[in-house]
Amino acid sequence: MKKRVAVIGAGPSGLAQLRAFQSAQAKGAEIPEVVCFEKQSNWGGLWNYTWRTGLDEHGEPVHGSMYRYLWSNGPKEGLEFADYSFEEHFGKQIASYPPRAVLFDYIEGRVKKAGVRDWIRFSSTIRMVRYNKDKSNFTVTVHDLKKDSMYDEEFDHVIVASGHFSTPSVPEYLGFDKFHGRVMHAHDFRDAREFTGKDLLLLGSSYSAEDVGSQCWKYGAKSITVAYRNAPMGFDWPDNWQEVPALLRMDEDTAYFKDGTSKKIDAIILCTGYKHHFPYLPDDLRLKTANRLATADLYKGVAWVHNPKLFYIGMQDQWFTFNMFDAQAWWVRDAIMGRIAIPSDKNALQKDVADRVAGEDAGQDAHDAIHYQGDYIKELVAETDYPTFDVDGACEAFFEWKEHKKKDVMAFRDNAYKSVITGTMAPVHHTPWKHALEDSMESYLEN
Ligand SMILES: Cc1cc2nc3c(=O)[nH]c(=O)nc-3n(C[C@H](O)[C@H](O)[C@H](O)COP(=O)(O)OP(=O)(O)OC[C@H]3O[C@@H](n4cnc5c(N)ncnc54)[C@H](O)[C@@H]3O)c2cc1C
Ligand SMILES: NC(=O)c1ccc[n+]([C@@H]2O[C@H](COP(=O)([O-])OP(=O)(O)OC[C@H]3O[C@@H](n4cnc5c(N)ncnc54)[C@H](OP(=O)(O)O)[C@@H]3O)[C@@H](O)[C@H]2O)c1
Repeated sequence: MKKRVAVIGAGPSGLAQLRAFQSAQAKGAEIPEVVCFEKQSNWGGLWNYTWRTGLDEHGEPVHGSMYRYLWSNGPKEGLEFADYSFEEHFGKQIASYPPRAVLFDYIEGRVKKAGVRDWIRFSSTIRMVRYNKDKSNFTVTVHDLKKDSMYDEEFDHVIVASGHFSTPSVPEYLGFDKFHGRVMHAHDFRDAREFTGKDLLLLGSSYSAEDVGSQCWKYGAKSITVAYRNAPMGFDWPDNWQEVPALLRMDEDTAYFKDGTSKKIDAIILCTGYKHHFPYLPDDLRLKTANRLATADLYKGVAWVHNPKLFYIGMQDQWFTFNMFDAQAWWVRDAIMGRIAIPSDKNALQKDVADRVAGEDAGQDAHDAIHYQGDYIKELVAETDYPTFDVDGACEAFFEWKEHKKKDVMAFRDNAYKSVITGTMAPVHHTPWKHALEDSMESYLEN
C-alpha cells in the first residue's frame, strides 16, 4: 500500500512540497500519493491577489493580506528557487524588487512546469485533523466548498502549509469606539488610493507599517503618522511622515500619544502583525508559537515534536522565504520517504528545538538573524538533494538591502543585486519606485 500524504495549503510552502515530491518522482523514485487541499480557487497563497476582505464568497475568512501595488520588500535574489531561476522563467534577468503579479507568475511557472496542479483539490477547506492512535494515521475532514459537502479521508502524514500572515492580531485602544474614521487592520488594506489626501495613523513599527505607509505616501496621502510601541523604525522619512511614541487614546477625530503630542486623524491602519492560527487543528496537533526564527515545538523547524508524523512548513518569521520553504519541503519529503531518520527519543527532538531557540537568542542584531536563518537553510539543504546554492551570497544581498534602506527608504527598490543561482546582475528598473504608479507585469518586464 502506498503511503498517503495530505498537504494543507497551496501557497509557496505547499507548492514547494508538491515540487519536492514531483522532483523525486522525476528521478525515478516511487513517491507516496500526495493530496493538497487549498481553500481558495487558485494557488499562490498570499500572492494570489483578491479584492475581497472579511469573508469570501463561501463565508470563509479571506486569506489574502496583499494589496494593489505591492512590490517585493526584499531583493528577489534572496528568495530565488535554486531549481528554477528567474532567468529560466522570464527568459532574461529582471529587476530586483518585482511587484506581486510578477512574483505570482514566477511561483506559478515552476509548478506548471512540474505538472502538479492535478494533485490539488481547490475550494477545499480543511475543517479538522485528528490523529488515530489505533491506526497510527490521521483523519482529515474536508469541506468541498463548491459542493457544500464535507467528507473524511485518512492519511499517513499531514503537512501544514497554511501560512501565518493571514489572521490579524487586532489590539483595541481607548476611544476606538468613538472615532469617526475608519479603523482597519493591514490584512484588509487593498488600495492606497483610498487614502489620497488623508491624514493617516498607523500602529506598529515593522514591515507592514513601513510598506503600507510607503504605499499611502506614494499614492498621495496628506500625512503619515506612525505610532510605535517599543522602538521607531528610524528611517529618514519624507517631510509629511513622522514617527511618534505609543498611542494612548483616540477621541472622535484626534489621536493622543505618549509624548503628550496629538494629531487630527482621518483613518487608522493597524499594522500590528498576525497570529499563528490553525482553527482546524486540535490541541494535541496545534502549533502555538511566537513569530520568530526558532519556532516552538518543531524539530528541525518542521517536524511536530509531539507527533513527528505531522509536519509544518514556513512557520518561522521570514528573512528568507521561497528558498527556505524549499529546503524544508525537500527535508520533509525525505523524512516521509524514509531517507532521513527522525530520532524516536522525544527528548532529542525537544533538545533540537531548545538549541535552535538558544542559537537565535544568542544573536545581537538583524545581521546575526539573517545569518542564523541562512545557516538553517544550509543545514537542511546539506541533508537532501535540493540544489546547493550560495546562501552566504543571498545573505549579502540582504545586507546590501538593509544599507540601501538606511540610505533612502523611498528609493531602496531602485537598486539591483546579483543572482546567486545564475551569477548574473539584475538590471536597474526603468522607473524609480516612487514614480512607478503602474505596476503590471508587462510594465515591469519592459527592460
Ligand atoms: C502583506 C505581505 C507581504 C509580503 N511580501 C513578501 C515579499 O515581498 N517577499 C517575500 O518573500 N515574502 C513576503 N511575504 C511573506 C509571505 O508569508 C511569503 O512570501 C509566502 O506567501 C508564505 O507562503 P505560505 O505558503 O507559507 O503561506 P501563504 O502564502 O499564506 O499560503 C497559505 C495557503 O493555505 C491556504 N489555507 C489556509 N487555511 C486553509 C485551510 N483550512 N484549508 C485549506 N487551505 C488553507 C490559503 O488559502 C493559502 O493559499 C509577505 C507577507 C505579507 C502578509
Ligand atoms: N511589500 C511587502 O513585501 C510587505 C509588506 C507588508 C508586510 N510584509 C510581510 O508581512 C509579514 C508581517 O509583517 P508585519 O509588519 O505585519 O508584522 P510583524 O513583523 O509581526 O510586526 C508587528 C508589529 O506590530 C506591533 N504591535 C503588535 N501589537 C501591537 C500593539 N498592541 N500596539 C502597537 N503595536 C503593536 C509590533 O510592535 P513591537 O515591535 O513593539 O512588538 C510590531 O512592530 C512580514 O513577513 C513582512 O515582510 C511584506
